[in-house]
Order: sequence, then C-alpha cells, then structure tokens
Amino acid sequence: MTADLGSPTHPTASNVQEAKPLHVVVLAAGKGTRMRSARPKVLHKIAGRSLLGHVLHTVREAGAASLSVVIGPDMDDVRREALLHAPDAEIFEQPDQRGTGDAMKAAMPALERAAAAPGDVIMAFGDTPLLRAPSLGRLREGLAGGEAVAVMGFHAGDPTGYGRLLTDEAGHLSAIREHKDASDAERAITFCNGGVMGFDATALPALLRRIGNDNANGEYYLTDAVAIARADGRAVSAIACPEDELLGINTRVQLAEAEAVFQARARLAAMEGGVTMISPESVFLGADTRFGRDVIVEPNVFFGPGVSVGDDVHIRAHCHIEGASIGDGARIGPFARLRPGASLAAAVHIGNFVEVKNVAMAEGAKANHLAYLGDGEVGAKANVGAGTIFCNYDGFNKHRTVVEAGAFVGSNSALVAPVRIGAGAFVGSGSVISRDVEADALALERSPQEVKPGWAAKFRALMKRRKAG
Ligand code: UD1
Ligand code: CA
Repeated sequence: MTADLGSPTHPTASNVQEAKPLHVVVLAAGKGTRMRSARPKVLHKIAGRSLLGHVLHTVREAGAASLSVVIGPDMDDVRREALLHAPDAEIFEQPDQRGTGDAMKAAMPALERAAAAPGDVIMAFGDTPLLRAPSLGRLREGLAGGEAVAVMGFHAGDPTGYGRLLTDEAGHLSAIREHKDASDAERAITFCNGGVMGFDATALPALLRRIGNDNANGEYYLTDAVAIARADGRAVSAIACPEDELLGINTRVQLAEAEAVFQARARLAAMEGGVTMISPESVFLGADTRFGRDVIVEPNVFFGPGVSVGDDVHIRAHCHIEGASIGDGARIGPFARLRPGASLAAAVHIGNFVEVKNVAMAEGAKANHLAYLGDGEVGAKANVGAGTIFCNYDGFNKHRTVVEAGAFVGSNSALVAPVRIGAGAFVGSGSVISRDVEADALALERSPQEVKPGWAAKFRALMKRRKAG
C-alpha cells in the first residue's frame, strides 16, 4: 500500500536498518486537557500499558538505536514512565508549547549527535499508541533514496483538522499545509499527514533552525520542514499508512476506540498463535499477555499487565488475572482472581471464588473453592480446602504462610501467618492455626463435639405442646 509520491526505487527496509542507525524522538509535552484528567494524557492506558509505553515499545521494535522523549515542565511522572519503558532514553523538557517544530528543537543536543553520521531520525507523537513497527520500517524506506524528509500519510475519511499533503505538477510532495492555513482547494485534499515523520539525520538540525512561526497559530510547525527541504532541492517522500495506526488520543472516547482496535489485534494474534477463545470479543488482553499453545480461554476473562500462560491451560469463564504466571496444564476458574505474584506451576488447579496473591504454588497444588491465599507458598500436590484463608495481615504488616508439599488443609481453616504447615500434615476443618505444624502431624483446633441422644425429638415435642396450649 505504498503511495510513493515521487521517490526513486529504494533498497529494502532491512537493508536500510542494517546500514543506518535510527534515532527516535517521541513528543509528549502535551497535557491533553480534553481528557479531563489530573494525569498527563500520555499516562492514560490501553491494554494496561500507557500510551507512551506503547509508542516506546513500537519504536524499539522498529530498531531505534537511541531515543529522546520531549516532555513538558513539571512532568516527572511522564519522565518516570518513559524511563520505565526505555531506561536509556534521554529526556528533554520543552518549556513552552510553541509547536511540533519547537518541541523537536528541545531535543537538539541528541539531534546534533545523530547528525554526526548518516542515519535516520523518526519523530512520533506520544499519544498515538496504535502505530506499528512495520509502518516505521516503510517510512525509513521513504528515506533510503537520499530524501531529506519522509512523511507518513493516510487517506482520511474526514480530513478536517489534519495537515494536507500538497503535491506539485509532477505529483511529488511539495509541502504540508495545516488545516487552519489551508485554502478551500487545499482543504479538499484527503491525503493527510498522519503525524509521524522521518528525516535524514544529517540534514535535520539545519532544517529545524529554519522553521519559522508565520502561520495562523503562530506556532513552529515541524511540517514546514517539507517545503524547506524542497526549496533546497532535496527530495522528499510520503508513504501511506492505514488510518487506524494513526489514531491520536485526545479524549476518553478516542481512548476507548483505541482500546477496541488494540484488543481486536491482540485477540487475533493470540488465536493465530494457538489460543482458543470461545467468545473472543469478551476477552480483554494486556499489551504484554503471553500464551503458550492449546490454551482455552472461556468467555469474560480479563488479563491485566504481566501475565504469562503456559501450554494446555484452561481458563474458565469470568476470571480476573494480573501479574500472574500460569504453568502448563493448569486449570483456572470459573470466577477466579489471580493477583500480582501468583506464580502457579504446572497442573495447579484454582477453582471458583479463589483469590491468589503473591503465592507460589508448586506442581499439582490445588485450591478448588472459596479461598484467599495471600503471601506464601503452597507445596507440590498440597490441597487447600474450601473456605481456607491465609490470614496474612495484622493491620500493620504482611506475614507469610507456608503449606508444604502434600499437606491437606481442611475446609474453613484460618492459617494465621506467619505459620508453616509441614509436609504431609493434616489440618482439621474449621481450625484456626496460629502455630507451626510439624510434618505428617494432625493439627486440630476446635471445641470437642457434644452429642445428646434423643434431644431433638424431646425438644420438638415440648415446643408443639407449648404452641397448642
Ligand atoms: C499535527 C501535524 C498535522 C497532522 C496531525 C496528525 C504539525 C504542525 N501538524 O497536527 O500535520 O495532520 O498532527 O495528528 O505537526 N506537541 C508538543 N509540543 C508542542 C506541540 C505539540 O510536544 O509544542 C506534541 C503534542 O503533545 C501532540 C503532538 O505533538 O502529541 C501533536 O501536536 P498537535 O498540536 O496536536 O498537532 P496537530 O494540530 O494535531
Ligand atoms: Ca493532535
């Protein structure tokens, strides 16, 4: 789908990537007031990952050798998020938001360094999370013939608000005209600037210095680099990209739209990778959810961040899973909750209304009904009965519960941490266990049972007589 506006034949993308280093600048200075949020826009999430995180992962996948992120003043949270996803990124502050050209200039020290040797620079927005790495590879192809600038365009259903890609008589890209500055004839053009632009690294600093702010917004438009390069007799190019990759997030409604696009892609990838989904539209995946083969996911399952699922796992309906690793052959749910630190080995069974947090369960361990397992370990083939609670919190500190291999915890037991149930030990139902139990012992903590023969019959007879008379 490459709409090549006038560049000669190029080497392939992989040749380009091997030959030249790629520097990427991500612009994230905008606050995003239309989100109506206390948080900067790029920290909002789709599929459990921030918008900025998505962009940083994508540009890394596209082969970025070095990265700059431009943030606004007082955006330490954005700085931290950028460094979380790209620890080697260089962070620059843009003091006032005076346009995309001005934002790029904030990264000038990095751009000067990149200009020292042949290479590509790509600029992407931090609020455009659906962009994919292959499209960035195609944008680089648009620079491979010696072009100074390559623009990622798209055919807009409604071009209102976008910069239009203007062409000369020969059909070559000549300039980008922002909507506000465009004539009626120019506004009729539907091939638009998608925002992402590529540059010859050696030419970029000089281009940026020549961008002025003589336009309807009084802003420094990065898009003016196209006309400036053409005036210098340099070639430029445009490639077409699917519109859904260029969806920029300005509102919560667009956030939900982007989530939907991302989920559709992620479900498709999971199914293509060997996962059965009975009702894919009801399964929500994290950006980093990993599946083995022959996994079955029943309807209404939510995956938060940090989940990995092994082979032959069956996840029954209505589970909420985050920060958990699930071993081969495990059975989860229905109605199970796996929280961060739930680390389940092969063949573990977690049944209905069981919550597991920060507990490692060894091979074949089971908690099949109605339990809370928090902060501890469950050994191989141990069985945790219905209604068992790991009492891990005393109001001040969290403590660990260890149930060793082969132990059997009877129903409705409270294990008051810190406490250890030895290998093969039994805990009688209904016990409150607050001291360690040695291996193969029975621990029982309940009042002795009283039985009064005939009592119920006498009681009934008494009550009947009273009611009658
Ligand atoms: C920009 C393009 C337009 C394109 C559109 C695609 C320019 C001049 N225009 O317009 O051609 O069709 O994107 O969505 O580039 N930013 C900063 N600092 C600034 C200004 C912007 O960091 O001083 C960041 C913003 O946070 C935002 C991005 O750059 O993420 C785009 O800026 P915005 O002002 O929204 O540009 P558009 O008007 O959408
Ligand atoms: Ca925008």
